[in-house]
Amino acid sequence: MEIRLSEEQVAVQQAAKDFARHELLPGVIERDEAQQFAVGPVQALGQLGFMGMMTDPSFGGSGMDTLSYVLAIEEISKIDASVAVCMSVNNSLVCWGLEKYGSEEQKKKYLTPLASGEKIGAFCLSEPEAGSDATSQHTIAEDKGDYYLLNGTKNWITNGNSASIYLVIAQTDKDKKHKGINVFIVEREMPGFTVGKKENKMGIRSSDTHALMFQDVRVPKANRIGPDGFGFTFAMQTLNGGRIGIAAQALGIAAGAYDLALQYARERKAFGVPIIEHQAIQFKLAEMATKIEAARLLVYKAATIKDADQDYTQSAAMAKLYASTIAMEVTTEAVQIHGGYGYVKEFHVERFMRDAKITQIYEGTSEIQKLVLARELFQKA
Ligand code: CAA
Repeated sequence: MEIRLSEEQVAVQQAAKDFARHELLPGVIERDEAQQFAVGPVQALGQLGFMGMMTDPSFGGSGMDTLSYVLAIEEISKIDASVAVCMSVNNSLVCWGLEKYGSEEQKKKYLTPLASGEKIGAFCLSEPEAGSDATSQHTIAEDKGDYYLLNGTKNWITNGNSASIYLVIAQTDKDKKHKGINVFIVEREMPGFTVGKKENKMGIRSSDTHALMFQDVRVPKANRIGPDGFGFTFAMQTLNGGRIGIAAQALGIAAGAYDLALQYARERKAFGVPIIEHQAIQFKLAEMATKIEAARLLVYKAATIKDADQDYTQSAAMAKLYASTIAMEVTTEAVQIHGGYGYVKEFHVERFMRDAKITQIYEGTSEIQKLVLARELFQKA
C-alpha cells in the first residue's frame, strides 16, 4: 500500500517539524525533569492551528484530514511526547467528539475555544477502580430535572490541570450498565469541582496528569452530549480516533530515538572505526528502521481509513498495538546503541524510552487492543 502525501500534508508535516525543532527542543530536558507543562509552546501550537486540526473552520479549527493530524503528532513526538499527548487528547478525544456528537450550542460555546487553542480540554473516563473495565463507572450523575448532580473521582487525567473544559463520563442508571452511562461537559469554574493530586510519572513528565474530584457539581442538562445513555458509545467511538493519535505518538517516539541512534552510531568510534561500521550495530539499526516503517504504514492506513469514512476500529487498534510495542523495542535499542551515554539525560534517548512505555497503557492497554481486535476479527465475523 503506497500512501502519497499531498502538497498540503507535506507542508503540515514540515511546519510541525520546524516547530518541534525550534520551539520544543530547547528546554525539553528541563521540562521533563521539573515536570513542567509547556504553557508557551502549547499556546503557540494553538495559534498555528494544531489544537483543532480536524475541526471545521466554522468552529475555530483547521479543517484538515486525519492523515495531516497524524503527520503533525509524529513530528512533535520526535522531540517532545508530552506536548504531543496534550495535543492528541485535545484534538481527538475532546474536539472530535464534541464536533461529531455535540449540539450546535455546545459546539459554539465549547468547541470553538478548544479548537482555536484558546482553551484546553480533557477527557475523563478512567477512575480509581475503572481503567480497562470502563463500564464500571463509579462516578454518578443524578437526574435532578433541569440539571445533573455529579459526584465521583476521575484518575490519570491528561491535561488535568491545564484544561478548563472537561468531558466527564458518568453513570446515570446503574441497572442499565453501559447503556446507563452519559457524558457531560463540565467547566472548571463549576462549584464542587476540584483538581487533585498531580501524578509523579515515569515518562511524559511535562504532561500534567491529575486526579479530579466532583462533589455535588450541578451540571446543566444542556451540557449532556447526545441522547440519554449515549455516554459509553461516545467514549468508545472517541477512543477509536484517540488510539490513532497515540499510535502516531508512539511512531514519533520510535522515529525520534532511531534518528538519534543513527547519528550517534555515525559519530561514536570504537575499535578504531565509527560504531556504525560494526555489524552488531548495523543489524540493530536495520531492525529498528523496519519496525518503524511497518508501524508508519499501519498508522497512516488507520488515518486514511478514518478519512474515507470507513469503520476504523480494527485499524486503529492494530496501529496502536503495533506502534506502541515497537516504540518500546526501538527506544530500548537506541539506549543500547548509545551505551553509557544512553543512560544519561543529555542524550534524550533515556527520555524516549521512558515516554514510550505509556503508549502501551493509556487510551486502551495493549491487552485491550488485542481484545478489541479479537472481537473485530473473529467474533463479529
Ligand atoms: N468501538 C466502538 N464500540 C465499541 C468498542 C469500540 N472500540 N468497544 C466496545 N464497543 C461497544 C460494544 O460494541 C458494545 O456496544 P453494544 O452494547 O451497543 O453492542 C459496548 O461498547 C459494550 O461493549 P462490551 O460489551 O464489549 O463491553 P466490555 O465491558 O466487555 O468491554 C471494552 C469494553 C472494550 C473493554 C472497553 O471497556 C474498553 O475499551 N476499555 C478500555 C478503556 C480505555 O481505553 N481507557 C483509556 C482511558 S482514556 C485515556 O487514557 C485518555 C487520556 O487521558 C490519555
